[in-house]
Amino acid sequence: MRVEPTEAALGADIADIDLSGDLRADDLDAIKEAWSKHLVLRFRDQDLSDEDLLRFSRYFGPLDKAPINPYGTTWVPENPEINVISNILDDDGKRIGGLGDGECVWHADMTYNEAPVHACTLYAVELPDSGGGTGFASMIAAYEALSDELKVRVTGLECKHDKTRNSTGQLRKGFEETYADVSQIPGAVHPIVRRDPETGRRALYPGRRNNAYVVGLPINESEALLDEIWAHVSKPEFAWHQNWQLGDLVMWDNRYCLHRRDAFPTDSRRHMRRTQIGGDRPIAA
Ligand code: OGA
Ligand code: MN
Repeated sequence: MRVEPTEAALGADIADIDLSGDLRADDLDAIKEAWSKHLVLRFRDQDLSDEDLLRFSRYFGPLDKAPINPYGTTWVPENPEINVISNILDDDGKRIGGLGDGECVWHADMTYNEAPVHACTLYAVELPDSGGGTGFASMIAAYEALSDELKVRVTGLECKHDKTRNSTGQLRKGFEETYADVSQIPGAVHPIVRRDPETGRRALYPGRRNNAYVVGLPINESEALLDEIWAHVSKPEFAWHQNWQLGDLVMWDNRYCLHRRDAFPTDSRRHMRRTQIGGDRPIAA
């Protein structure tokens, strides 16, 4: 097994390993060490069943169930921890997965929960000829590059993470279309700067821009500060872009990264299997 870091602020390939069986303890240790350092790992040329994906994911912690889909169930009822990201319709015209074919803006997953997921894995089963790439951005690098003035200004502040819409902007089941103002939107409140209890590293934790609110600020000041933070975190120097190949498995640390997805042509098919590893409440820096 070899670790090959990208030239970017985050990301590494793990080469020469087959994830379809049990892992050797020394390989697992090396994977964990590389993951802590590089935040996003890519394993190419894998051939994984759902059971393989679940077994591999569980090496990193207990799994969370997939979020409830628009049909009121999880996508794979016999395996509720499997989440399906796809634009494909089955023979009855029913969606087999979520997020469609549109762009997903920069976000971290499920941060509207009090204890958001620690990490996700995403495994490519079917891919479009063009589009549908996924970007990742290091929020540790973004924090470190903040001006001292902005570090002081944001440390100790908290932000509300909208529960009502997903990363394509679609309204989730059971929520209102509009609220009196952004401060009234349901969602969890988390520190804008979080600290890793084991390593002491600090990271920005902005969640997603849409419907965010900095708790306690007048709305115009919250909007101005969020615009400043988002202009910073979406700079290309913090990011790495994944061009998918069939059999790629990517896992990301959802505490310290954002991700986004390019749209892809409506008449093409994209099918990814996903798991989510459970997490803890973020700790304020
Ligand atoms: C996700 C997600 C991006 C992609 O699964 O949370 O944002 O590339 N997916 O499908
Ligand atoms: Mn996502």
